[in-house]
Amino acid sequence: MKGNIVVGQSGGPTAVINSSVAGVYAAAKKLGVKKVYGMVHGIQGFLNDNLCDLDEQIGGEMGIELLKRTPSAFLGSCRFKMPKIEGHEDVYEKVFEIMEKHDIECLFYAGGNDSMDTVKMLSDYAAAHNKPQRFMGVPKTIDNDLPITDHCPGYGSAAKYIATSIKEIIRDNESFGVEKPTVCIVEIMGRNAGWLTAAAALAKGEDCGGVDAIYLPERVFDLDKFLADVKELAAKKSSVVIAVSEGVQVADGRYVCELGKEVAVDAFGHKQMSGTAAMLAARIAEETGLKTRAVEFSTLQRAATHLASLTDINEAFQVGYDAVLAAEEGKTGMMITLDRNGDAPYQCGTSAYDIHAIANVERKVPDEWITEDGKGLNDGYIKYARPLIMGELLPVFVNGTPRHLVRK
Ligand code: F6P
Repeated sequence: MKGNIVVGQSGGPTAVINSSVAGVYAAAKKLGVKKVYGMVHGIQGFLNDNLCDLDEQIGGEMGIELLKRTPSAFLGSCRFKMPKIEGHEDVYEKVFEIMEKHDIECLFYAGGNDSMDTVKMLSDYAAAHNKPQRFMGVPKTIDNDLPITDHCPGYGSAAKYIATSIKEIIRDNESFGVEKPTVCIVEIMGRNAGWLTAAAALAKGEDCGGVDAIYLPERVFDLDKFLADVKELAAKKSSVVIAVSEGVQVADGRYVCELGKEVAVDAFGHKQMSGTAAMLAARIAEETGLKTRAVEFSTLQRAATHLASLTDINEAFQVGYDAVLAAEEGKTGMMITLDRNGDAPYQCGTSAYDIHAIANVERKVPDEWITEDGKGLNDGYIKYARPLIMGELLPVFVNGTPRHLVRK
């Protein structure tokens, strides 16, 4: 590679998105790339020429190791939708102008479905206007809803946090047995795909009976049926723990969190979902008089690098690294995918895939992994997900808390 490169982060952060930046940086250094730039706040920052020099920010092995252990988007993220090309050529020309100004040959963008749309639009524009610059997608999303790839970096760590925290919640909830039952509703992210909520099933094991029900957005949510299910469970046991996706929708298409309030919408038209567990817990308390708790994992599930999966950290690094190698080979308009080659032992390689088949496509939990009653996951899912949460990488603790790498 003769020119420089730039890497950006976009969309909701994950516990390992910085490991992908570390992978891009490490590969570029290995190839002798002169300058590795970081976009400050993704493509939105890039359009304002807001760049940083990763040698100054990371500066060597120690920085790479700390970056792998740092949650959030180290470079800063954005939720910015590239406008349609027609009538907005100036926005696209601006991107290429800034790339030329800094002699940037390749742009790497780590993100989910919406961010892959940015890669698609920029590579399409380059192809249509005979521009030599290349664009590569680096997969990232706790939602695990990108198609083609077996799974998405970020998912394994969020799933590990969810499975662990739910085990701890069940343990706590089971402490009281003589009083009336306690019902705990746990709300999990993931928008319209139930992958993350499904991870609640991973709590079950030799030392834990698991959650009592899992409500995925892949199934229509029936509030009356839900209340009846809870009553039935509470009649039988003193501790009831239920996992529910933030994206569950009732038959008329409204999200459960919308039933009681107006919700905000982002640049991609996504509704800001939150409050599902609180709403359901309040309804249970009203109807039954039972003691309820609502737990919303919210930001914690995507920021818990202290409980990240080592498999996930390594794969996040690898997709960043391999994106640079693919660009070096001349590839553009593609995203790196994770390709599973086996479960026992778990093996996974990577390849590059056409971004047009990926951008804006949402992959849901397959029907065959959801139990017949629609309230659980079967062994097919467990076999798929278990390897992704394996392994740990301890943070570097300083004064009792993990040390992070912070952008200067
Ligand atoms: O797409 C990742 C994600 O974390 C979703 O699971 C969640 O619905 C959304 O982002 C939350 O968005 P925000 O960070 O804007 O609240």
